[in-house]
Amino acid sequence: MNEEQRKLNDQAKPFKPLQPTKDYSAYFQAPSLKDAKKRGKEEVEYEKFNINPQFEGMGNGRKFLIRTFGCQMNVHDTEVMAGIFESLGYEATEDVNEANVILLNTCAIRENAENRVFGELGHLKPLKTKNPDLLLGVCGCMSQEEAVVNKILKTYDQVDIIFGTHNIHKLPDILHEAYMSKEMVVDVWSKEGDVIENMPKVRNGGTKAWVNIMYGCDKFCTYCIVPYTRGKERSRLPQDIIQEVRELAAQGYQEITLLGQNVNAYGKDLDMDYGLGHLMDELRKIDVPRIRFTTSHPRDFDDYLIEVLAKKGNLVEHIHLPVQSGSSSMLKIMARKYTRERYLELVAKIKKAIPDVALTTDIIVGFPNETEEQFEETLSLYREVGFEMAFTYIYSPREGTPAAKMQDNVPMDVKKDRLQRLNAVVSEYSAKSLEGYEGKIVEVLVDGESKRNKDVLAGYTRRNKLVNFRAPKEVIGKLVKVRVTDVKTYSLNGEFIGVVEKVEV
Ligand code: 5AD
Ligand code: SF4
Repeated sequence: MNEEQRKLNDQAKPFKPLQPTKDYSAYFQAPSLKDAKKRGKEEVEYEKFNINPQFEGMGNGRKFLIRTFGCQMNVHDTEVMAGIFESLGYEATEDVNEANVILLNTCAIRENAENRVFGELGHLKPLKTKNPDLLLGVCGCMSQEEAVVNKILKTYDQVDIIFGTHNIHKLPDILHEAYMSKEMVVDVWSKEGDVIENMPKVRNGGTKAWVNIMYGCDKFCTYCIVPYTRGKERSRLPQDIIQEVRELAAQGYQEITLLGQNVNAYGKDLDMDYGLGHLMDELRKIDVPRIRFTTSHPRDFDDYLIEVLAKKGNLVEHIHLPVQSGSSSMLKIMARKYTRERYLELVAKIKKAIPDVALTTDIIVGFPNETEEQFEETLSLYREVGFEMAFTYIYSPREGTPAAKMQDNVPMDVKKDRLQRLNAVVSEYSAKSLEGYEGKIVEVLVDGESKRNKDVLAGYTRRNKLVNFRAPKEVIGKLVKVRVTDVKTYSLNGEFIGVVEKVEV
């Protein structure tokens, strides 16, 4: 962190909960959405992670458990925190009764995600009474919200630690503080920190690995809390990403997913003419069978990236391209910075360059004052693009965002009805996208046992189609060939043919 950021963090300090329930002498700092909104010009520093020798062995004889809510970014942050715990000597456990530290890595994107976390805190409370030495922590996106931290301070005194998304690398110091003081430790930075390299990781995705390429988001869509909880856009240096992917390839990983809240803005903050297209062009030369990225923003999706993706090889034919709405007037109020026409032009360009591309999307229905006409424009756009799958949501007001202040004349039952109508179209198009697959041979990366039936294995094709089939468990983590025998609405069934020995990259 540079001097300027340190000052801003310090300014965020004079925060006082309304009704303190504990002694706060040990807390460091609490979040401020006002500070989190600021975007400064200060340089991002690149630092290397190391464990202070003073903390070595802190976890010997102790166990940790992390519950993860939300998106892939959180899943990967959990892998980093698990790496830090294990470097400190802690052992992982799945059993809340034997854990010495429990962390909830939280999501703030919608209200129901937050409610699940508060429910979980309630369930865990009796454990604190049984085991007073247990440390219970809340981290992730919810910790970055003032209102959430206030609520925890006021009503959830079973919580010992609150820290945010910007200081994960400080976990050893935070744990140390919690052990020393035994008071609630609140250490949330409102200003993003630096880019920390060399973080230890315990990867949990089998032969699939997540790789961060950038942090934060500067788009400020009017409904979204992410720019506040994840800070300004900061790209990792290309050489650090390429090195990480090379190492993962050498370790036998089969699929890499590049992560960022808005990966198409990759490189904009670096002082060089280098974007996601350039990065993908270098990564495609690495001997790893599949490379994906998520999540894209249509506004920054440039022609060079399309040109590189069309070279295929290990770059898969699946693009997740959140549209949010099919109405230009609604997109304007959402501050998405593109129109329906501009989105359709982009889709046309992508389809021309990659005719077999699978496009998927995110859509919000029931944004404040959304009219029936505007909603129908979303349905018509869905059909026009022919999306193969979508994540669909009812708008959820997020405190501190511009949309949360808008008057809303759309009743909840209308919103629910729109979601249902949209989901019917999503099902229809998912089924349509699978129609031609019967009898075809597809390449599947095997994730593991199917969630519904332990005797069946499940995995995904390059185009992100879920395939279920019977095969020996030894093929888990491998690329296999499967002949499709049966087409469902959202998935394919097939028969195992054999393992793919060598994938040409
Ligand atoms: N309400 C509902 N959905 C939201 N998303 C983001 N913010 C909100 C909100 N306030 C959705 C968007 C985004 C996805 C990750 O979550 O569709 O693309
Ligand atoms: Fe949120 Fe994505 Fe918009 Fe960023 S681009 S503000 S993460 S919806």
